[in-house]
Amino acid sequence: MHAALRTRFCEVVGVELPIVQTGMGWVSGARLTAATSAAGGFGILAAATMTRDQLAESIDEVKARTDRPFGVNVRGDQPDIDSRIALMVERNVRLASFAGAPRREVIDRLKTAGIFTMPTIGARRHAEKMQQWGVDAVIAQGHEGGGHTGPIPTSILLPQVCAAVDIPVLGAGGFRDGRGLVAALAYGAAGIAMGTRFLLTAESTVPENVKQIYLATDERQTVVTTAIDGAPQRVIETAMVRTLERSTALGRLVGAAKQALAFQRATGARLADLVREALAMKRSQELSWAQVLMAANAPMMTKASMVDGRPEIGILPTGQVAGVIGDLPAVAEVLRAIVAEAEETLARLEGR
Ligand SMILES: Cc1cc2nc3c(=O)[nH]c(=O)nc-3n(C[C@H](O)[C@H](O)[C@H](O)COP(=O)(O)O)c2cc1C
Repeated sequence: MHAALRTRFCEVVGVELPIVQTGMGWVSGARLTAATSAAGGFGILAAATMTRDQLAESIDEVKARTDRPFGVNVRGDQPDIDSRIALMVERNVRLASFAGAPRREVIDRLKTAGIFTMPTIGARRHAEKMQQWGVDAVIAQGHEGGGHTGPIPTSILLPQVCAAVDIPVLGAGGFRDGRGLVAALAYGAAGIAMGTRFLLTAESTVPENVKQIYLATDERQTVVTTAIDGAPQRVIETAMVRTLERSTALGRLVGAAKQALAFQRATGARLADLVREALAMKRSQELSWAQVLMAANAPMMTKASMVDGRPEIGILPTGQVAGVIGDLPAVAEVLRAIVAEAEETLARLEGR
């Protein structure tokens, strides 16, 4: 392999390729994560949408499928975060990434436990703050990225962040191929982190009818909306999303309340647990009760499409890059093609 592809991230984390499969709620399960790590990339389990017991099962499944390192995506404000960290230590998980902003005490606890930390940031000042907190690496995600996303495009954010901090930076938002990997390295990054490309693979468990919607989406058919949980989130612009955007705040609230109750009935979740989680969310993020209800309901809207295959009632988080992805290859093939194209690109640039 070309020496340029063996980056600081590879050395710090102990991985062959500088390519991360990110933790996508309801999408990055054991099968996808294990396939990525087994093929030489770095897979991350999406645990923000798992109970602690589901996380334990998923970690065991990844370990049964591969002995390579992998990570877990956590939410710093989960009420049982201490027990999750203990589990990660016990099962020797290499790294934690974060859904949303991390909390300093959670970073400190993970570091003390010997687990690498890698938050996602969307602005230079956040990267600087994370470096001060002592994290091991950051993912700099540009506006074109999937799910919750910031306002600055990758082409501006990534070189800015790479110039501002000394820790390894991974570029995210819009990456899918080997030319993109070389471009990220040229900006000063230590690799790339991709969501949507991995969502659209053979090992991703997203239902076939939903994968077909992603494949049919062009780069103008995604939208960044705050109508789902109050924070800007990039999703496919479906009829459901247009309805949400048109409805009044009260209408959205009533819809969210109805869905939250239906979820509680369907899953048998204890109301006390939901209330405890909502209270923790309200305290840590200073949200209004309306925002709490919407935010508590949002994961269920993602589950409806990504697990249950019902895009008419759910949301489809995506990067804009879905518009230029038209196939569903195996994960190992995605990684092999990226490395091959990166090597060709480097040889071309070197005039070979
Ligand atoms: C379906 C979906 C679900 C996501 N869920 C999460 C999540 O639970 N936690 C998180 O940190 N990021 C989440 N993200 C963001 C991704 O991890 C990643 O940062 C983003 O997709 C990168 O942009 P790209 O799609 O252009 O590669 C999600 C993205 C998608 C597409």
